[in-house]
Amino acid sequence: MPIELLDDGRFHLFTNSTSYVLEPTAYGAVRHLYWGARLNPGTLVQALTESIPHSIGTPDEANVAFHALTLECPFYGSTDYREPMFAVQLANGTTAMDLHYSGYRIIHGKVPLLGLPSLRAEPDDDTETLQINLDDRRSGLRITLQYSVLGNYDVMTRSVLWNNSGSEDIRLTRALSAVLDFDESNFRIMHLSGAWARERGQSWHDLSTPGRLVMESRRGTSSHQEQPALFVVRPDTTLHHGDAYVFHLVYSGSFLGFAQVDEYRRLRIGLGIHPTGFEWGLAPGDSFQSPEVVLRYSPHGLHGISQGLHRVYRERLIQPAWRDRVRPIAINTWEASYFHVDAKSVLELGRQAADLGIELVVIDDGWFARRDNDRSSLGDWVVNPAKFPHGLEPIMDGLKSWGLQVGLWIEPEMVSPDSELYRMHRDWCLYAPGREAPLGRHQLLLDLGQKPVQDWIIETVTDLVARYRLDYLKWDWNRPMAEGGSAGTSAGRQGEVGHRYVLGLYRILETLTRQFPDLLVEGCAGGGGRFDPGMLAFTPQIWPSDNTDAVDRLAIQGNTAWLYPPSSISAHVSAVPNHQTGREVPLTYRNRVAASGVLGYELDLTQLSQAEKELTRQHVQWYKSHRDLILAGEYVPLIVDDASDQAAWMFWNANEGRGIIYWFCRDNKPNQLSQRLVISDLPIHATYEITDQDSGEHFMAHGSELRYRGIPLLRFFGQYKSRVWTIAATSPHGRGLHTMGS
Ligand code: GLA
Repeated sequence: MPIELLDDGRFHLFTNSTSYVLEPTAYGAVRHLYWGARLNPGTLVQALTESIPHSIGTPDEANVAFHALTLECPFYGSTDYREPMFAVQLANGTTAMDLHYSGYRIIHGKVPLLGLPSLRAEPDDDTETLQINLDDRRSGLRITLQYSVLGNYDVMTRSVLWNNSGSEDIRLTRALSAVLDFDESNFRIMHLSGAWARERGQSWHDLSTPGRLVMESRRGTSSHQEQPALFVVRPDTTLHHGDAYVFHLVYSGSFLGFAQVDEYRRLRIGLGIHPTGFEWGLAPGDSFQSPEVVLRYSPHGLHGISQGLHRVYRERLIQPAWRDRVRPIAINTWEASYFHVDAKSVLELGRQAADLGIELVVIDDGWFARRDNDRSSLGDWVVNPAKFPHGLEPIMDGLKSWGLQVGLWIEPEMVSPDSELYRMHRDWCLYAPGREAPLGRHQLLLDLGQKPVQDWIIETVTDLVARYRLDYLKWDWNRPMAEGGSAGTSAGRQGEVGHRYVLGLYRILETLTRQFPDLLVEGCAGGGGRFDPGMLAFTPQIWPSDNTDAVDRLAIQGNTAWLYPPSSISAHVSAVPNHQTGREVPLTYRNRVAASGVLGYELDLTQLSQAEKELTRQHVQWYKSHRDLILAGEYVPLIVDDASDQAAWMFWNANEGRGIIYWFCRDNKPNQLSQRLVISDLPIHATYEITDQDSGEHFMAHGSELRYRGIPLLRFFGQYKSRVWTIAATSPHGRGLHTMGS
């Protein structure tokens, strides 16, 4: 079992490759002692005492210097002066607490988090949960630290529950999900930051000096600008080697992540709901549950991190019905028609799509009410009679009769001031009492903290799905939250509005996905503005960016895959010149970039030349016969570096010893040495047959040669070149994956 209590009161949490050691103390500090490569369970772990500054000496109950310690649960109002995990204000206005360790519990499996998505445990899983209770006797506040170890997945989770068991009100003014201290800072930090249409670029930081690095979103969503994840790696960690740690928050609202180096050069990492503007009232008997943080350590570099996260997200976060389900190849009307979508254009597109082997038609924005631009109609989810004079039913029936699945775009959390919904229910909007709500893309947010609003969204979406027999829904969200209050919430609870919005959203999605388990809901937020594990729990695929330029997508998709499996990353082939960048990239290259995730199309198929149609038909056919590998295989990054002029990855079926390798060139320069593509992770004691998908040429190579020397990339000429090879082991020794299981 993955959690053991050692004789001296320490807890050893371990998986195949990781140990995590902590010690609750009588004086209320929960000491963090170790996280890293696996230690031998059953020993006393003698070496695991933290380094205490000489000037302080070992603390005890009489002399508690929390700032000397490496901690798991630092709080404001103690002798720890670094960034706290949580803070409270008691009924008398004070913030001090005296926490005492009051016991623990080890539970088989996992405890679901009330109202929040989290990783699941299934009955046969090697999963255990440790709960550690800390009490402030004077106020009656109880803090329960929850640690789950998912042994089969080499992953841990942390979350916190605060409970007011006293008789007076308590105000929670900061409630992060996890804080952890390393007793050194010989690390680098990587996080994924960006903006609209250029989401998730790699940001690297050295930690050579004391100070604080902050990654955050204050936008009411996880955001285009930051991903709620922190990677902590050694300075010499590479793609496939060296210590790597990740912290990933399962949450879709504003968040704070920080890395703090203190005066002793120790590193503190923290992650959770953003404290700015946040407060939560705990009346006697009330509880507050933090979202979950997923933690993973790997000695196999960044790929070791992504490999484990992909597996656990596919198998224990994404809805079970969608875990292994083939994702249909979509044609989406947005870049084909924008707001001018109508019955004729949809049917023409559908007919062409069916002919090319495409499987799903998605009618994007513009199909409802008077929606001819982004200035009106959000909230009025009824068909636009001018564009679809006979309604959507005959269109959907027609598409279905050609063997196509059907889907609709909707942005149900929003309302346009120019809409019937707004005129009827102005009070359903999020706005501060007595003020105008700020517009974004000419629209307002609905106040999802209000139950009638949640119920209306559930009813509206239920009706659309049932009426049009939808197979798919694109769930969009096109403006961040900036309201700073809610007229539907009492004065004392305004600090709860942002989080209540997210809880409301989760309730809506939970209800709808339970009601329609076969409906594929694709998440979207102006592109990749809400691509996070919280949404992934309900939307098994997510649109990662409004930028469909194939060259830019190499980084966007490649970096998204540090955390998320390719089966969740939607990728569309669009027209040239590209609508976001003006770049003209060959169709084969665009096809291949999109075929690195969930393939789809987003262009006017009827405008393609015969040759382009033929190429598309062949590509769709090729993708169908290889998508089991792409969507369910192991993803192995080979070159994923924003600064490189190349990108490459492999999809690998470890059981069968076969895969696909993709290589892309972003730029071409004259007079260069010819390059080699190293296939880092294959078992080396085997021979492989490698087949070029363009020329059909094939050759044999030994695993050691592929791993240590690489495939020769012969001279190529021209812009935007790409290569795809299939690779197959010629003996069972070539099955598996070098880093498998860690
Ligand atoms: C957002 C989405 C796009 C498209 C438009 C429609 O920007 O990211 O894909 O659906 O909205 O308005």
